[in-house]
Amino acid sequence: DVLPSPPPALYPSWFAPQPADIFPNLTLPSGFLFGVSTAAYQVEGAVKEDGKGPTSWDWASRQPGVMVDGSTADITDLQYYLYKLDVARMVSLGINAHSFSISWARIYPFGAADSPVNQAGLDHYSNLIDYHLEMGIKPVATLFHWDTPLALVAYYGGFLGPQIVDDFVNYAKTVFAAYKGRVTTWYTFNEPRVFCAELGIYPFNTSLPIGVNSTQAPFICSYYVVKAHVAAVKAFREMGMPGEIAYKNDDFVGPPWRANSTDDIEAVERHAAFQIGVFSDPVYTTGDWPPIMKETLPPSFLPRFTPEEIAENKGTADFYAIDDYRDQWLAAPLDGLAACVNNTSHPLWPQCNQLMLYDSNAGWSAGPNPDPDSASWLQSTPQNFRYSLQQLQARWPTNKLYISEYGFDEAYEVDRTELYLITEDVTRTNYYMTYLGEALLSIHNDGIPLMGAFAWSIVDNAEWNYGFNAKFGIQYLNHTTLTRTPKRSAYALSQFFAAHLQKN
Ligand code: NOJ
Repeated sequence: DVLPSPPPALYPSWFAPQPADIFPNLTLPSGFLFGVSTAAYQVEGAVKEDGKGPTSWDWASRQPGVMVDGSTADITDLQYYLYKLDVARMVSLGINAHSFSISWARIYPFGAADSPVNQAGLDHYSNLIDYHLEMGIKPVATLFHWDTPLALVAYYGGFLGPQIVDDFVNYAKTVFAAYKGRVTTWYTFNEPRVFCAELGIYPFNTSLPIGVNSTQAPFICSYYVVKAHVAAVKAFREMGMPGEIAYKNDDFVGPPWRANSTDDIEAVERHAAFQIGVFSDPVYTTGDWPPIMKETLPPSFLPRFTPEEIAENKGTADFYAIDDYRDQWLAAPLDGLAACVNNTSHPLWPQCNQLMLYDSNAGWSAGPNPDPDSASWLQSTPQNFRYSLQQLQARWPTNKLYISEYGFDEAYEVDRTELYLITEDVTRTNYYMTYLGEALLSIHNDGIPLMGAFAWSIVDNAEWNYGFNAKFGIQYLNHTTLTRTPKRSAYALSQFFAAHLQKN
């Protein structure tokens, strides 16, 4: 791979962050992973090739009103065929790890345990893994990044039915056996909270299984995800798999907006429980759901774990991984927390922890604050990043933490046509450099056992319902030629890690 030399900087050096100058005396611990992350649906394309079955998102992207830009991910980066190009580019940039996901429907086109295995799919990931190893890039594999085999959704409602657990474990075992020893860092589920509450089962709200309504669905999904995770980790250990396994959590535990407000402090607690604790308490600490969730939700919403399940859940993760994009402040609803808690007709029930932001024109309002520089849900608040990591470490202590994703969507790139302006992604560059500066402080001042950070993503890709209207790449994708062009942020990351990684 020939890395194009960076274009002349459009900004003076005192305006743009200088990667080597960020805490130049602080180094990253030896073995630290300078990673990038991707997901099968978002980068592979080739959706009908080599025997792959259709997935929930192949279907959803074809439904009216789902895709913001009317696109599908049928082609996207075509990484299925072009992975060598992307891996070679990683090498040129000094990246040493790639977290990708395996598409369940390539391995089992129909998803189910009693349906045929697709050898071409297994061979594909085998070749891909070997190529990473050959090129010195550590392959990190996610079993499930939201692309449920469509047959399972049609047949029993996917993650809303108990059958999913056995089908998932069967798939996991097939993949473990195939890549044992070659992949040593594994994730079961990507951001299960987002999958269950927002972007996974939601296109199917019209066909929920009988007896499940849309407020219940996210919690019922969470229950089966935890069960599937626990069973897969059990299989991983029984099979004597070398390496480590966990899931990728999201998102943030921001500080209370008004430090002295008991309502805001409680909103932070509710948020931590419903958003992160829901998947962390069962596997890292108590084995059970966070107490606030059980107080709020009856078993018809949140199925209870039996004492045997609680015992099985505990300790089923070897490290902690967090996708960290934003660390906003949190505030209670305008009418106070009391108005929401246990009030099923309140618009914010059951979570009652919605982010509230103050706008000088509109006053307090619920929901993410549109930030002109980024996606509507994403605000860059690096000043809270250390706080979030401290909170995670205090609540769910671990010996090893990965930032399994972090990244920035630079909104105005979408409207730009000149390549030299698109690739001059100052805001994203700033985001990465400030976060990484804070990461150095987390490691050195706060004792956080951070051992890797995976930038989302190596190249612009299909951003779920936003399609190509949201760009998170450190490289620009030309959709006609599929050429990848590094943006300023790619060079900055490369320089930052060249300066801060320990040389062996
Ligand atoms: C996290 C998700 O895992 C990934 O699929 C998504 O593209 C990024 N967030 C950016 O929104």
